[in-house]
Amino acid sequence: MKATLVIENIQNLITLKGENKPRIGEKQKEIGLIENGIVAVKDNEIIYVGEGELPENIEVDKYTVIISGKGKTVTPGFIDSHTHLVHGGSRENELSMKLEGKAYLDILKAGGGIHSTTKATTEASFDELYKKAEKSLNTMLSLGITTVESKSGYGIGNFDTEIKQLEVARKLNENHVVDIISTFLGAHAIPQEYKEDTDKFVDILIKNMIPEIADKKLAKFCDVFCEEGVFTINQSRKILNTAKKYGLMPKIHADEIVSLGGAELAAEVGCISADHLIGASDTGMKDMAKKGVIAVLLPGTSFNLQKGTAANARKMIGLNVPVAISTDYNPGSCPSENLQLMMTLAALTLKMTPEEIITGVTMNAAASLGIEDKVGSLEAGKKADISMFDIPNLAYLVYHFGINHTDTVIKNGDVVYKKS
Ligand code: NIG
Ligand code: FE
Repeated sequence: MKATLVIENIQNLITLKGENKPRIGEKQKEIGLIENGIVAVKDNEIIYVGEGELPENIEVDKYTVIISGKGKTVTPGFIDSHTHLVHGGSRENELSMKLEGKAYLDILKAGGGIHSTTKATTEASFDELYKKAEKSLNTMLSLGITTVESKSGYGIGNFDTEIKQLEVARKLNENHVVDIISTFLGAHAIPQEYKEDTDKFVDILIKNMIPEIADKKLAKFCDVFCEEGVFTINQSRKILNTAKKYGLMPKIHADEIVSLGGAELAAEVGCISADHLIGASDTGMKDMAKKGVIAVLLPGTSFNLQKGTAANARKMIGLNVPVAISTDYNPGSCPSENLQLMMTLAALTLKMTPEEIITGVTMNAAASLGIEDKVGSLEAGKKADISMFDIPNLAYLVYHFGINHTDTVIKNGDVVYKKS
C-alpha cells in the first residue's frame, strides 16, 4: 500500500489507542505514548501507527509528503465538543459590570447577557455571522482543533434566528476544513415576552421548533440551559425527552451556576453528555457514571465567571465518570477559542493531569459527540486528523501557557495549517 503522507521520527506520539469508547477512571490516563513514533496516511485515512520504521508493506514514493516529527509531540486532532460558535456581536461591556461584582444571572435577568447577543445575532446577516464564525474556526484550526460542536441558542423565541445560526454552521461545515457538528439550543433563555408564562414557551419548543429542526436535519443534538431563572428540571426533562423522540440526542447545560439536579436529570434522560457541572451533586455524578454520561467540563467558564468554584473533576474521575474538556467558546461566559488555554486551566483549576486532559480533548470529546469510531485516536482505519505541537513532551503544552504551541495540523490527510 502506498502512503500519501508520513510523519516520521516523532519524539512523542500520543495515540490514545484502545477501544473506541470513553475512557474512565485510571484509563483516562492511558494515552498510548510511543517514543520515536511513525504515522502513515493514505488519502484521508491512517494506515499505520507504530515505532521506528514503516513495515515493508507500506511504500513511499516521490509524491509522498514526508514530515519530520523530530522534537515534536503528535496527537489526534483536538475536538472542541462544546461551543456557541455562531453568534453576532461581543459583550466586552459586561467586563466592568463583572468587576463591580454584578453576577452573570443578574445581568441576564436585567435583559443583558444572552439577550444582548440574541439581539446582535438577530440583526446580523447570514454573511456577517458566517464571516465571524469562519474567523473563529481559523483560530481554532491554528490551535490544533479539527472538529467543533456548534450550538444555536441566540434566537430566544425568534425561530428564524435559530435556523439562520444552524444554516451558517451547515454551510461552514461544507466549506471549511474543520468538521462542525450542530446542536439545537432553542432552550437557552426565556424570551422576555414569556417571562410570566414560561411553560408556554416550552410548549412552542416542543410542538413547533424541535419537530422542524429534526425534519430539516439541522442538528444532531438538542441542548437545554437548565438553570435557576432559565429552564427548570421539569421543563428541561420535557424538552430533552421530546428531542429524543424526534431523533435528536440530548445534551444539557447542567448545574453551571446553581446546583439544581441537572446531573441527575442527564442520567435519567440518557444524555450523551452533561456539560459544566460546577455544582453537580455526588448523587448526580454517581448517576452519570452508572449511565455512562460524559462530563464535558469547561474550566474557562468557571474561571471567567470568577465565583471561585469549579467542577469537581477529581471526584468525577474517581467515580468513573468520563471527562471531556472544551472551551464553551461564547461571547459571555467564555469569550475564548483557545482550547490549549483551557487545558492549562483544567490542570490548574480542576487538578487534572496532562494525560487525563489530552484524553479529554480527544477520545472522550469524540465520544461526547458520538464520533469515537472515526476520530479521537490515531490508529489504522481512523480518519487522518492529526495535530503536531512544537513541545518536547505533553506536560509542556499544559505548563507553558498562553501561547499557541501548534506546529502543523493535518485534516483528512492534508496539511491544512503550518506555523509560519
Ligand atoms: O455555556 N450558560 C449558557 N450558555 C453559555 C453562555 C452563553 C452566553 O453568555 O452568551 C454557557 O455558559
Ligand atoms: Fe455553553
